[in-house]
Amino acid sequence: MNLQNAVAVVTGGASGLGLATVEALVARGAKVAVFDMNEQAGAAVAAAHPGKVIFQKVNVADAQSAAEGIAATVKAFGALHIAVNCAGIGAAGKTLDRDSKALPLDAFAKTIQVNLIGSFNIARLAAEEMAKNQPDEDGQRGVIIHTASVAAFDGQTGQAAYSASKGGVVGMTLPMARDLARYGIRVNTIAPGIFDTPMMQGVSEEYRAPLIAMVQNPKRFGAPAEYGSLCVSIVENNYLNAETIRLDGGIRMQAK
Ligand SMILES: NC(=O)c1ccc[n+]([C@@H]2O[C@H](COP(=O)([O-])OP(=O)(O)OC[C@H]3O[C@@H](n4cnc5c(N)ncnc54)[C@H](O)[C@@H]3O)[C@@H](O)[C@H]2O)c1
Repeated sequence: MNLQNAVAVVTGGASGLGLATVEALVARGAKVAVFDMNEQAGAAVAAAHPGKVIFQKVNVADAQSAAEGIAATVKAFGALHIAVNCAGIGAAGKTLDRDSKALPLDAFAKTIQVNLIGSFNIARLAAEEMAKNQPDEDGQRGVIIHTASVAAFDGQTGQAAYSASKGGVVGMTLPMARDLARYGIRVNTIAPGIFDTPMMQGVSEEYRAPLIAMVQNPKRFGAPAEYGSLCVSIVENNYLNAETIRLDGGIRMQAK
């Protein structure tokens, strides 16, 4: 799909991987609606790209909030062709804590609600709009990109909720691509390794060093721009569908 004048929604677009995706899409000529809960950061992204980026305060996990955001996007830009799900939370907590007390069920549910249900929520509403587009010369109407994590496959200690949420994202990729094939809408997922975003910058050096040690090559965290560049490639390559792509420098995470 050609990005010039295409319209995209990027959730979590006020920070980290989402922000880098906004920058990459705008650089290729797309118009972007940033959906995020962080009003200050979201408004700043829009202000940096007048006429090309709008900000909508959207809670991805809420049906009405997402529907309002999608409607505002179509009103502002006339259509919707691309949805990139980057909004997510990364809370850690062991099934039993050091006092052998069970993880509160709410903590598990919150992670599923934002990372998994939020991703489906945006995808279903975006697909409804994409289905209205005129197909391009290759029969394409839209592209959906989810963000999982390598924790979907090798989750660490304390990542039961996070890994479950991301495993769910990987799991829904193929059936969603099958559901939407007849509309010319492709669905792919990126499973990032560890990226240098505010989510990881909050982590102490003591925790960062062993993570970098598990990366094969290059021996560093991923740069958000590398994630944004893969999103552009996925949009532009019509034959890439129903796939989960690890973007991780070859990391295979150990238990800790
Ligand atoms: N950074 C990493 O190393 C890494 C690795 C693997 C996967 N991921 C995943 O990539 C995605 C982006 O991560 P990041 O590192 O850029 O994080 P980040 O914290 O920098 O950005 C996440 C953004 O999502 C927003 N957000 C959170 N909950 C929301 C909600 N309910 N509705 C709307 N917006 C909401 C936040 O306000 C924030 O702006 C997440 O899904 C994360 O799980 C990140």
